[in-house]
Amino acid sequence: MKTSRQVNFFDYGAVFAQRREVYLKIFDDVLSRGAFIMQADLAEFERKLADYLGVRHAIGLADGTMALIAGLAAAGVRAGDEVIIPSHTFVASAGAAHFLGAIPVLADCGQDHLVDPESIGRMITPKTKAVMPVQLNGRTCRMDEIMGIAHRHELVVVEDSCQSLGAQYKGKFAGTFGAAGAFSFYPAKTLGSFGDGGALVTNDDDIAAKVRLFRDHGRDQNGDVQSWGLNSRLDNVQAAILGHKLDHYHEDIARRRALAALYNEQLVEIEALKLPPGPSDNPEYFDIYQNYEIEADRRDELRDYLFGLGVKTILQWGGRTLHQFPALGLAGDVKNTEELTKRFMLLPLHTALTDDDVLYVCECIRGFHGA
Ligand SMILES: Cc1ncc(COP(=O)(O)O)c(C=O)c1O
Repeated sequence: MKTSRQVNFFDYGAVFAQRREVYLKIFDDVLSRGAFIMQADLAEFERKLADYLGVRHAIGLADGTMALIAGLAAAGVRAGDEVIIPSHTFVASAGAAHFLGAIPVLADCGQDHLVDPESIGRMITPKTKAVMPVQLNGRTCRMDEIMGIAHRHELVVVEDSCQSLGAQYKGKFAGTFGAAGAFSFYPAKTLGSFGDGGALVTNDDDIAAKVRLFRDHGRDQNGDVQSWGLNSRLDNVQAAILGHKLDHYHEDIARRRALAALYNEQLVEIEALKLPPGPSDNPEYFDIYQNYEIEADRRDELRDYLFGLGVKTILQWGGRTLHQFPALGLAGDVKNTEELTKRFMLLPLHTALTDDDVLYVCECIRGFHGA
């Protein structure tokens, strides 16, 4: 074993330090201008984000959860409607439907940990209004199949692309397949703000207009109340930071993909592990590796062993998927997800991680497996 070291799962301070001087200048500039709510930096970031994704509209919101709620509501989801959502997702995906009075219906995931289109097909009933594919871990679902099912059954598609800004499937960006796509700028996200943040993107002018009203108490630009709404605005200072980060986003994604390739190269021969596809494995996918989610035999023992050697790993959603939280009252035919939750874990992957950190993590994992 090489020298031991501490490898944190995420390192907020180190990620800030990477461009500290620039961030401090941005804060100074925005705060000195007193430009806090719905100012030019927000409009500029929204334009940049829309251009990056090639969509007509991007609307900044307080967080990804509010983007999901606003997107579902603007796309026509109402009380009593069923919304099909994978069980392997963050509680916010289902919570967004729940708080509109709609009913989250759980679908299973496939071998790639993403929602299985066939499972979506099985869950459709006369009450189904919408499908919410979750673009998990920085990878895009099989959207051609999902859009085909949605068209055949006249369902609305609102994508939870909170984990996948910049990911593509067959040359198209996650978040741009359906009626609308929601993004999260939570600090540990690939495009992270220094607090909460989110956005809703769409090519539909009517959805965009509704979401713009929704996030600002239903008020239009003249202050006239045009509909019911809430306060769910993206702070201007966060938008200014995000605008700068988006300018450098391709560098961050390239780094993430390089780290994922290094993990794959180092761990590929360990039979007790199942790795995510490597960045160059399949030209149909462009993955951005929000997470590096592996499956492991003796998962809990492996995590304890790594922890003892200074390597912090985590289990997504605390190790339980939506059907496993009794408080939510959600059940489903989700056998693959059930099996997956016994085996999945996340290895550290962020832009402040060095190659040596990854080599150390892999050496520790090989040590555990006696390889
Ligand atoms: C899949 C998924 N959906 C929704 C959200 C909610 O985003 P936010 O935390 O910005 O509300 C997250 C963020 O953690 C997420 O990972």
